[in-house]
Order: sequence, then structure tokens, then C-alpha cells
Amino acid sequence: MSWKIKAQKMLNKKQYDAHMTKADRDYTPCTPYGYSTFSPWFEDWFQEMYAKVKDNTVVREDRCYILHRFCQRSTHLEGDFAECGVYKGGTAYLLAHTLQKEEAEGRRLHLFDTFQGMPDIADEDPSTHKEGDLGDVSLDAIKSYLNPFPFVEFHPGFIPETLRPFEDRKFAFAHIDVDLYQTSKDCCEFFYDRMVSGGVMIFDDYGFPGYKLAEKKAVDEFFADKIEEPISLRTGQCIVIKL
Ligand SMILES: C[S@@+](CC[C@H](N)C(=O)[O-])C[C@H]1O[C@@H](n2cnc3c(N)ncnc32)[C@H](O)[C@@H]1O
Repeated sequence: MSWKIKAQKMLNKKQYDAHMTKADRDYTPCTPYGYSTFSPWFEDWFQEMYAKVKDNTVVREDRCYILHRFCQRSTHLEGDFAECGVYKGGTAYLLAHTLQKEEAEGRRLHLFDTFQGMPDIADEDPSTHKEGDLGDVSLDAIKSYLNPFPFVEFHPGFIPETLRPFEDRKFAFAHIDVDLYQTSKDCCEFFYDRMVSGGVMIFDDYGFPGYKLAEKKAVDEFFADKIEEPISLRTGQCIVIKL
């Protein structure tokens, strides 16, 4: 069986990587259309950036590329940057590194998570998560990993309680990667009114089947009566640009 067929079956990360050559990565298959499209996340410059985060994230490089690019363009806006759902700090590192490269270190990057894994509300959530999932983390280790970026602020605890002290802030960019229905809904409710015009909200798990009744349902319900439409990406993410 060719790697392309294996890739389409998406067996697992290791098997997929083993079948990719550099040439294969420039343009990758777009199932079900039968054509391939440009895949810049496999270019050397981005792979170098991804190498710094891949052991600390569950987010693959195509989604990280989207995060990087939208973070970069959001530096032209007023407002803080935020991530809800940090786990081991991989995507947070990518965002911080991007801000540093853009010489935007004057901006704050706020990180919200229990930093102890999924909270107890996970047990009642329509996703398959349970309390304590993704709990193999240490806040000290994450702080040390993100030490090169003094503009990063850690807000450990339960979302939405940890968001409340920031009610008077404006945001240019919010990465929402919390998986759960209620947490996703709480993040929508908090950030939407606080995003500046042109500000970007990215939802990591919108398009994955396991989160159809969780993150996707929360986003769809929240934006049903808003002027903005969630834009679904092939990566599984969706983006909302505040009007
Ligand atoms: C998929 S992980 C985040 C992945 C991360 N962005 C990465 O780079 O791998 C989801 C995170 O959401 C957090 N989370 C979910 N609901 C939460 C809540 N109500 N309060 C705080 N953290 C929450 C979990 O603790 C978990 O670390």
C-alpha cells in the first residue's frame, strides 16, 4: 500500500511521518478531491519552529501554522493575546515565539488552564474527556519551558473564574483549545465582547468528530445570533474574525 493511501487513512502520527518524504510534503493530498495543495507547514522554516514545540503539544503542524500566521497578523491590532487550554505549553510557546519574532514583546500573552488536567465538569461533557485527562503536566515545568518569554502571564485555575480579573481588557487574538462544551461556551461569552475589530478567535477542535457535540456545538450556538460566521478550516480549526 502506498504512503498516500496510508496517509489518507491517518493511521497514527508515527506511521504517517514514516511515509512522508520531503518532496511529498510540499503539496499534500486533499481528500476526497484527488488533487494536492501547497502545505507550507512542511517547509524547513516552519518545521524548525515546530520542532521547538512538538514534544509539548497535541496540535499538529498544519494547525500550528494557522496559529502562527494569525498571531503574526494580529500584532497589527491593539489588545492582548490569550490562550485557553495550554496543556504542556506547546501552542503557547509557538504564540510567544511568534510575538517575539515580530518584536511584539510589549504585548501580554495570557495563559488560562487548570494546569492539572480536565476539571470535574468533563465527566458530564459530551466530549469523551473525563476529569483529570491531560493531567500529566507540571506548572513549574511549563513556566520553565516558557521562561524565554517574560511577557507571558499564567492564570492557573478554573475557566471562567480565572477570566474574570480581565473583564476590562481588550484582546487582539484568542486561541481557544479547551475541548469541553461548557468551557468553550464560557470562552465565547468572555472573549467575544472583548475582541477588537479585526481580532481573531481560533477554536482548535471545531471540526473533529469527537467534539461535534462539545466545542462545535458551543461555538455554533454562541454565534447563531451574531453577525460573524465561524469559518471552518480543513485543519479542523475554525476561525472567527470580529467585525
Ligand atoms: C487539548 S488541551 C490543550 C492543548 C494545548 N493547546 C497544546 O498545545 O497541546 C485542553 C486543555 O483545556 C484545559 N481545560 C478545559 N476546560 C477547562 C476549564 N474549565 N478550566 C481550566 N482549564 C480547562 C485542560 O486542562 C487541558 O489542558
